[in-house]
Amino acid sequence: MDLSQIQQSLDAAAEEAGRAAAAAATTDELRSIESRVLGKSGPVAGVMALMKSLPGDQRGAVGKLANETKKAIEALFAARREELKHALAAGDQARGAAFDPTLPGPVRLRGAVHPVTAVQWEVEDALARMGFVAVSGPEMESDYYNFEALNIPAMHPARDMQDTFHVDNGCVLRTHTSPCQVRAMERFGAPLRVIAPGRCFRYETLDASHENTFFQVEGLMVDRGISVANLIAVMRVMLQQVFRRELKVRLRPGYFPFVEPGFELDMSCALCDGKGCPVCKRSGWVEVCPCGMVHPNVLRFGGIDPAEFTGFAFGLGLTRLAMMKYGIADIRLLNSADLRALVHPERLCGPLI
Ligand code: DAH
Repeated sequence: MDLSQIQQSLDAAAEEAGRAAAAAATTDELRSIESRVLGKSGPVAGVMALMKSLPGDQRGAVGKLANETKKAIEALFAARREELKHALAAGDQARGAAFDPTLPGPVRLRGAVHPVTAVQWEVEDALARMGFVAVSGPEMESDYYNFEALNIPAMHPARDMQDTFHVDNGCVLRTHTSPCQVRAMERFGAPLRVIAPGRCFRYETLDASHENTFFQVEGLMVDRGISVANLIAVMRVMLQQVFRRELKVRLRPGYFPFVEPGFELDMSCALCDGKGCPVCKRSGWVEVCPCGMVHPNVLRFGGIDPAEFTGFAFGLGLTRLAMMKYGIADIRLLNSADLRALVHPERLCGPLI
């Protein structure tokens, strides 16, 4: 055999080894083919054996060829071995054979009620237990209901308290849920217990505590002999249910044209139990909502005789309440897609999908 014949037979051996390796279905099978091809009676060993009978000047070249072929065949088997290992592991996993119970399971995402909705439901629920019925009103409201009937006539300086979006048709985007008061009085008369949750709009510059769109719950109770004591009792019971703890409430004087007297209602800070913390600015109290005794003019606008009936009203800011209950520091998060703020374990709902 001359050099080129030897080369040919070695190439043929490598090719043959490649085919056999590709056809092997298990690593055991692969190992036995490898030891046959590279073993004592294999083609490479055959060439090595031949070397003794070759002239001295050819031995080096033949030895080199044989070695190269051997290395190539070894590399080919190593590659196929890796391939088989992966394929077999994947197959095992598919059959569940390699199930590892200590690995974390697949994450199932669950929906959650938005913080404002959650607080709204809680407020509605607490007030419904005290006989309040939920009503609603239009978000695009007439000037009459939004201002006039609430004792805020045109040119009244109190209009400046609420920066208003005006609509081309002469209406406004309601700046509060208070217009629902007169609508409810007109519709149902006295005695009356209603709440009106809803969206309100103000021409505000956005910052950490102001949004141009926010949620309120209006409350109105009208009956014979209603006093500030009723207002305090209803607010206290409602807040205790929403925050699930004993709370104190207090009133400070406040001015709103549609109530007389008007108040700002504070509750003892739910985070520090009134001891003082950064959230309540060390005062132990947090502002909850404005409220007051319904102004006789407003009762009259609603068709109710102020000589016979009195009432209280409150305008609860749901957004603020939600932020306080769920510890959300920035109002803008509520309209964001930041699930860390919006999804709270307490509000997870629905079954695992
Ligand atoms: N409507 C007022 C506002 O948004 C809040 C308010 C104050 C509502 C006093 C009331 C009330 O019912 O009695 O600024």
